[in-house]
Amino acid sequence: MNKKVEKALNKQIELELFSSQLYLAMASWAEKTGFNGSANFLYMHSDEERMHMLKLFHYVNDRGGHAIVPSVEQPNLEYKSIHDVFKEIFEHEKMITAAINELVGLCYEEKDFTTVSFLQWYVEEQIEEESLFSNILDKFNLLGGDKAKMYMFDSEMEKMASTGETPSE
Ligand code: FEO
Repeated sequence: MNKKVEKALNKQIELELFSSQLYLAMASWAEKTGFNGSANFLYMHSDEERMHMLKLFHYVNDRGGHAIVPSVEQPNLEYKSIHDVFKEIFEHEKMITAAINELVGLCYEEKDFTTVSFLQWYVEEQIEEESLFSNILDKFNLLGGDKAKMYMFDSEMEKMASTGETPSE
């Protein structure tokens, strides 16, 4: 496969794996802080990010490239509040969307239309992810920050986790 595209896909593999690690760290923080609903949701989302990484992994190898296991960067382990966790996720997902768009742009430049077509799944996935996290932030803002409302917010997250209300399914 085109070497520039292969390198860029491996960079995306690294980003998706980092996303998985980041959500895992956030899930752990939420669990130890008592936000069990949010923790369940975040553990699930961490698994989804690993799935995003694996999908790229198989594609690179199937097309004659070499999918590289990246070294692991430790994400932030501590958060000020559950609100900060979801605000950070929303910003992170916007960064991922920009990275996917760059990748698609490179594939057009390199006339690798097969990979452009493969990446459409990620383009659509990012629309869903940004919308999901924007909705969660809206929910948080509606419920506000006092303790009873935080409990309600966390119960909402539990509901989302138990119904599998996450993108990419
Ligand atoms: Fe794989 Fe949340 O983007």
